[in-house]
Amino acid sequence: MKIRLDKYLADMGCGTRSQVKRGITKGSAEVNGVKVTKPEEKIDTERDTVLFNGMTVGYAEFEYYMLNKPAGVVSATEDRRERTVLDLIGEKRRKDLFPVGRLDKDTEGLLLITNDGELAHRLLSPKKHVDKTYYARVAGRITEEHKKIFAAGVDIGDEKPALPAELRILSSEEISEVELTIHEGRFHQVKRMFHAVGGEVLYLKRTSMGSLRLDECLEPGQYRRLTEDEIRALC
Ligand code: URA
Repeated sequence: MKIRLDKYLADMGCGTRSQVKRGITKGSAEVNGVKVTKPEEKIDTERDTVLFNGMTVGYAEFEYYMLNKPAGVVSATEDRRERTVLDLIGEKRRKDLFPVGRLDKDTEGLLLITNDGELAHRLLSPKKHVDKTYYARVAGRITEEHKKIFAAGVDIGDEKPALPAELRILSSEEISEVELTIHEGRFHQVKRMFHAVGGEVLYLKRTSMGSLRLDECLEPGQYRRLTEDEIRALC
């Protein structure tokens, strides 16, 4: 792929587009051992060797992060009032990252953050029915009867009932613990499914999405890059 030198450097977190432009015109960039002072110089991302301020800068077209989203932050790229999930990605990050789908402000757990629009589209497409699994604590005794209702497709007040979903009961008490796998991603879907059967979700955490499982080593608010295997399995 061929892209401008200033975009190459800005994408890789060397500074904003105007900062890197200034650096390039001042002579801070080298391509294949030759000083380049034109920000518009075309770079072959696979073949050329780029140095900025004496440091080699490799190019990755796509980046993939797994975030354990904490409660209290919104799943958006920017927000005038609230902290966003992107505010938690502390590495010098590129401008085009976004969260794949949304978790409610009070929901925790797995959130994929990337700049790969095609992958996001595939994971979010309603036609693909990508599995999403949640752990929930629910006020009310959740029983085998609820399992059957969810397996049949519960009416949550939309035009169509929710698609059949798999409920696993971990404990059935006044506050029950469950795991629920759904195959679509409607607004507040898990909360609305339990609400439809008289339960109230008190705590919600996403533990997987498609082939990707939340790394239990990540505390809420922590993130890491996906491994090559995780990326391959998702793509
Ligand atoms: N279902 C919900 O109700 N909330 C979420 O954040 C995700 C799924």
